[in-house]
Amino acid sequence: MTAEKAGFDHFMLKEIHEQPKAYRDTMGSRIDASGERVVLNEVKLTPEQIWDIHNIHIVACGTAYHAGLVGKSVIEQLARIPVEADVASEYRYRSPIITKHTLVIVVSQSGETADTLAALREAKRCGARVIAITNVVGSSVAREADDVIVTWAGPEIAVASTKAYTSQLIAFYLLGLHLAQTLGTQDAAVIRETIEGLKKLPEQVEEILNHADDIKQYAEQIASHKDLFFIGRGLDYAVALEGSLKLKEISYIHSEAYAAGELKHGTLALIEDGIPVIALATQEQLLEKTVSNIKEVKARGAHVLGIALEGNHELGKAVDLVFEIPRTVPLLTPALSVVPLQLLAYYASLALGHDVDKPRNLAKSVTVE
Ligand code: G6P
Repeated sequence: MTAEKAGFDHFMLKEIHEQPKAYRDTMGSRIDASGERVVLNEVKLTPEQIWDIHNIHIVACGTAYHAGLVGKSVIEQLARIPVEADVASEYRYRSPIITKHTLVIVVSQSGETADTLAALREAKRCGARVIAITNVVGSSVAREADDVIVTWAGPEIAVASTKAYTSQLIAFYLLGLHLAQTLGTQDAAVIRETIEGLKKLPEQVEEILNHADDIKQYAEQIASHKDLFFIGRGLDYAVALEGSLKLKEISYIHSEAYAAGELKHGTLALIEDGIPVIALATQEQLLEKTVSNIKEVKARGAHVLGIALEGNHELGKAVDLVFEIPRTVPLLTPALSVVPLQLLAYYASLALGHDVDKPRNLAKSVTVE
């Protein structure tokens, strides 16, 4: 067992550290040698078929759904196609409007989640084209979808998903770029800049991992708390949801993720002296607004950890502690900002003496609806 963990204490920690490789492998030959184009041969949609897409539905469960929330923003921003994201267990029951002009993207690490598979079948029954993003070649989802984008994260053993989630983000970036290239919705310079940003991500994740001890210390401080909040706007909110889920899954600490601007409509009532709040503030165009939300929680006694881009002094002044992530293209920040949150969940679980890799009540793959 120790050998399989390659010297790490737990599969989860090993898998967190495997992310730079998972990013590189998932990008692999899907970026052409010029560095100016994405080549997604596994998506067999012709340009005419891509032009014919009126809307996109992203359907998934758990962590894969959170990747889908990032995917929604990525595709909308890059390809300017309207996207909805749904949890698979709800999708079928809301009579979604699916036509032959709808592209449905199902996301599943295992490719075996019953709700996701049922959603895929419903989408196909209604005439939609289905793309699967999955980590398991030959899984049920992969077999039944029209096109499959494999995330080359390698086997993920820990129940709490880490490298599969971030590889799903990479798949969405590639797909968003592929659609944008075909539709001509972005200048060549934007495509090039995004691709350059993607290529830098693996070493930037390594930089973050070099500061894991800072997160460990913070995790030990918050482990004694019963409640914790994650806040953020836009893409930061999507990552906040994933950070909160990760913490709940393995540390059993109650946490909520809130869109920062929505706090004042209810959740602010729960903020009291000393409560930890993790504020993601990587979207610089939203910074001023996020800082004002941070001030709202600080005024009620919250202790705030900010997750910010390197050298962001404005945020530094507003919070109690800052964890910096390297600078990248705004759309790509989730692939970096989630890493400290994965480490936080890991070290909090460890500090509390829980079974990190096999949390209570949860399974790696859920094959019942
Ligand atoms: C289970 C796992 C989660 C996972 C979800 C969806 O609940 O514990 O970590 O996100 O299933 O799994 P999938 O294999 O479809 O991505």
